[in-house]
Amino acid sequence: MKKIISICKGDGVGPEVVNEGIKLLKVIADHSDFEFEFQEAPAGGSIWKETGESLPEKSFEIIKNSDALLFGAIGIPGLPQGIAESAILKIRQGLDLYINLRPIKLYDALRDRCPLKDEFIGKGIDITFVRENTEGIYKNIGYLKEEEAQNVMLYTRIGCERIIKYAYEFAKKNGHSKVTSVDKANILKTSQLWRSIFHAMAVQYPDLKTEDIYIDAFCQWLIRAPYSYETVVTENMFGDIISDEGAFLIGSLGMASSGNIHPGKVSMYEPIHGSAPDIAGKGIANPIGTLLSVKLMIQESFGQEAIGNEIENAVEDTLNEGRTIDIKNDALKTLSTHEMGNLISEKLRDRLKK
Ligand code: NAI
Ligand code: MG
Repeated sequence: MKKIISICKGDGVGPEVVNEGIKLLKVIADHSDFEFEFQEAPAGGSIWKETGESLPEKSFEIIKNSDALLFGAIGIPGLPQGIAESAILKIRQGLDLYINLRPIKLYDALRDRCPLKDEFIGKGIDITFVRENTEGIYKNIGYLKEEEAQNVMLYTRIGCERIIKYAYEFAKKNGHSKVTSVDKANILKTSQLWRSIFHAMAVQYPDLKTEDIYIDAFCQWLIRAPYSYETVVTENMFGDIISDEGAFLIGSLGMASSGNIHPGKVSMYEPIHGSAPDIAGKGIANPIGTLLSVKLMIQESFGQEAIGNEIENAVEDTLNEGRTIDIKNDALKTLSTHEMGNLISEKLRDRLKK
């Protein structure tokens, strides 16, 4: 099975964590039918400084013609706001990646790094955020003038239907009992459209319970009873914010993975963190968010559920032996990005050999 994987390393810690992702993919190729060809597609702040474009046409061509994109993170302090980051929005819009899948799972080994007391963690945290990824405020309709600025939050029926449908199907496929929709229907018209579609579609899924929660209330419920959520579907900006909140519950922003997906088309996989300029170049970034994004790629784009599960197992094995500094435990070795990536790759190799 030959797959072309476009690679955008980006800025800051992006290249450091993506290199570990490439290493993991090479291990998979060594022990499966996969053959991967990697093609670099530069995007972000560094390439903008060189070319004046954050997503050069050549890079986008490479991405469009690949089977999947592995993306690091972009953003350089001091550049005009949004210059580098606009590349992500161009990729999401240009490839119509309407699903942003963001799993938030607290591994047992990391219960000590969760900021919540044990009674609030309860039976554990295993939530998948399904974030709408192409509409809403991030469509970037609006203007910026000296005295005022405007962003338009636009949602279409088709846009709401396809993401909510995906969330219901995801919950069904994964044996979840409930789908939670997060909105602000007491204020926003876009949320009122969203909510009516969420309920109209519920009748097609009689085995799934449904609930609505306002975004402000959800922010407190997420830390008060995180164990009570399974699939959570929400609009673009709410999803951006609550998934960062969720990522901290599992120990570190560096742990959280994501897929920007259009089923059957080229999709993009990236850790949810940014370029982390405060730690860039130090070799201490946690690569797990990227490695778990490779897991999502293998499962969602290439349909190999079992190999993806082994990646997750390899990550869990490693957490009991050593950690990067963001999730450190004094009883375990503190590892660099590279050492953590090596250890997880070797654990995966052992598992795939069997
Ligand atoms: P950030 O996610 O880069 O960093 C927030 C905090 O988390 C920092 O203290 C950082 O050191 C820590 N952190 C992030 N990733 C980590 C990792 N892998 N291991 C250990 N610690 C980690 O967010 P920030 O500082 O708000 O943004 C920095 C730049 O990244 C900005 O230019 C922003 O626009 C951009 N950004 C890019 C994203 C992307 O490429 N998808 C997403 C979010 C932000
Ligand atoms: Mg974010």
